[in-house]
Order: sequence, then C-alpha cells, then structure tokens
Amino acid sequence: MKMQLNGVTLQSIIGLFCVSQLVQGEANPVGLKQIDFQFPVLERAATKTPFPDWLTAFTGLKEWPGLDPPYIPLDFINFDGIPDYEPYDQNHCNLVPRESCSFDCHHCIGHDDVYTCSKLSQTFDDGPSPSTTKLLDQLEHKSTFFNLGINIVQHPEIYHRMQREGHLIGSHTWSHAYLPNISNEKIIAQIEWSIWAMNATGSHTPKWFRPPYGGIDDRVRAITRQFGLQAVLWDHDTFDWSLLLNNSPTTEQEILQNVVNWNKSKTGLILEHDSTEKTVDLAIKINQLIGDDQSTVSQCVGGIDYIKEFLS
Ligand SMILES: *[C@@H]1O[C@H](CO)[C@@H](O)[C@H](O)[C@H]1NC(C)=O
Ligand SMILES: *[C@@H]1O[C@H](CO)[C@@H](O)[C@H](O)[C@H]1NC(C)=O
Ligand SMILES: *[C@@H]1O[C@H](CO)[C@@H](O)[C@H](O)[C@H]1NC(C)=O
Ligand SMILES: [Zn+2]
Repeated sequence: MKMQLNGVTLQSIIGLFCVSQLVQGEANPVGLKQIDFQFPVLERAATKTPFPDWLTAFTGLKEWPGLDPPYIPLDFINFDGIPDYEPYDQNHCNLVPRESCSFDCHHCIGHDDVYTCSKLSQTFDDGPSPSTTKLLDQLEHKSTFFNLGINIVQHPEIYHRMQREGHLIGSHTWSHAYLPNISNEKIIAQIEWSIWAMNATGSHTPKWFRPPYGGIDDRVRAITRQFGLQAVLWDHDTFDWSLLLNNSPTTEQEILQNVVNWNKSKTGLILEHDSTEKTVDLAIKINQLIGDDQSTVSQCVGGIDYIKEFLS
C-alpha cells in the first residue's frame, strides 16, 4: 500500500528532518551547535570547496552563504514570463489554484517534467553526506543524486568521488527551501547558488533539478526553465526518512515489500535519501532487491547529463 503524505504532521516532520541534516553543513550553526557534534570545525574547514575568484567577480562576495542565500540578479532572467501565484504554505493545498499545476498538492506534471523511467531506478536526495560514501561503496550501477549546494561545498571530496564513479548529479536547491512559498527572487537565489556550488566543486552545471518536498508549480517551473533545468519528480516514494521518527508510521519490511511490488512492473523512479546512515542502509537493501540493471535520469529519457562541462 502506498503511504500518503498526510498534511501537517508528515510535512512538518520532513521540514525538521531536513533542517537537522543541513545543520551538519551550516558554517555558522548559531544556537544549533549542541546537535552539530559529528564534524569538528577544523575538519570541515579543511575540506570546503574554495570560493572561486570568478564567483567573487560576479557576486562581490568571498564566502559561501548560510541557509538563506542572497539574491544575485542575472541578466538572462525574464520576470515578465513568470506567473504571479500567491506564495503558499505546504499545509494549505486548498488555497492552491489547479491551473498552477502543483505536483505536491495536485500531482500535476508539467509537459517537460520527468517522473518515471523505462527501468526501475533509484534516486537519492539531500546529500552529499558522510553516509553517501557507504552507498557509493556498494553501488555497482550508475545512479542519480540530487545534491544540496550547502552540502556540496562542505563535502567536495564526496562530490568528486560521485563524479569520478560516473554517477549523475542534479540540483536539489542550495538549502532545501519549499519553493512555492517564497518570492521569485528567493527561488532564483536557491537555484543560482546550487548551480555555483556544483560548478565551483565539479566544473559543470546541472541539467536536472529535483524540487525539495516535490514543491513545484508553474511559477517555479517558469524560473527553473530559464536556467535550462528540467524537473525530475518520482512515481514511487519510499518514505525512507520516516524510519528516523520515534513513532514511524511505516516499517522497513513494509518499504521493502513495496519495492518488491514496484519491481514487478520493471519501470519507475524511486525517491530515496543518502543523507543519513539509516536511509543509506535501506538504499543498499533496495539495491539488492532490484539489482543493478538501473538507469540514471538522463539515460531514462535519453537526455544530456549536464548543460555545460568545463575543463577543471
Ligand atoms: C511559508 O511562508 C510563511 C511566510 O514567510 C512562513 O510563515 C511559513 O512558515 C512558510 N511555510 C513553509 C512550509 O515553509
Ligand atoms: C563555471 O565555472 C567557470 C570556471 O571553471 C566559469 O568560467 C564560469 O563562468 C562558471 N559558470 C557558471 C554558470 O557558474
Ligand atoms: C526484480 O526484477 C528483476 C528484473 O526483472 C529480477 O531480476 C529480480 O529478481 C527481481 N527481484 C525480486 C526481489 O523479485
Ligand atoms: Zn530533499
């Protein structure tokens, strides 16, 4: 049985989950230090992606931003073409107009959105994290990772390893904002900083974009398309993150049983997370069930991997 995202409770828990894992990557975890015990400051500083000169020339800044990245105007963005839907909160889908084509509220898919795959394939959001390496140790096929900019610049060595091993990396925004709820400028900031994190770390710019919480509508699409990005959604949700809850509404056995059922139809895109050890351990079990005959998102649809690859 497919578990439904259940309004307030599950949505706000996803929010909490994502914030707590982002804290590991936050440069100034003011007030949150007590839970930021895993990575000593020195070790993090030693492995951070250097802030490149071309980005200083462009932004006037010298350091990677925190959770709320500044909006840097870009001359190719045309604001006239962006619909002006009222920003909305995740818990108020009743206020969302049908014509906005919201995925998370109405399961609406844009004409250029990818949401399934000709081969049943795993995809991983919210990394890179220290747990990602355990997953990389096990993967024998090429997979797709949607990374957060703020985590990329904290773990460039893990990013480089994904790249070296031939995995496809897409954008998952800079710091996991729920995009339908924020201004056009703040959406642009989330996208541009995630692209700069990938370019500064991996010398390439992304083609594929997964919206946090599946939060995408035609206002968000009108912006992400101007960056050449194509949205990637999913048709199979593991709800793997819910295993981290004290009163998890699902069990590992139930999730694995869903995977066995999906495996019978042989097609689809599975949503998973490489941000914690628990979800990575589950991902390895799911991989063992499905096997390694899987595709990256670009292989699913016969598309390109990156918009541009620079010589590093
Ligand atoms: C949406 O934005 C409002 C106003 O900024 C804020 O109070 C609310 O917490 C946001 N909700 C979500 C789910 O991000
Ligand atoms: C990507 O990085 C290169 C330097 O390697 C720089 O010249 C280029 O302007 C950057 N482009 C973007 C879109 O970040
Ligand atoms: C999943 O499907 C593949 C391909 O059809 C098959 O080889 C594999 O045995 C299946 N796994 C399970 C657990 O049924
Ligand atoms: Zn996410």
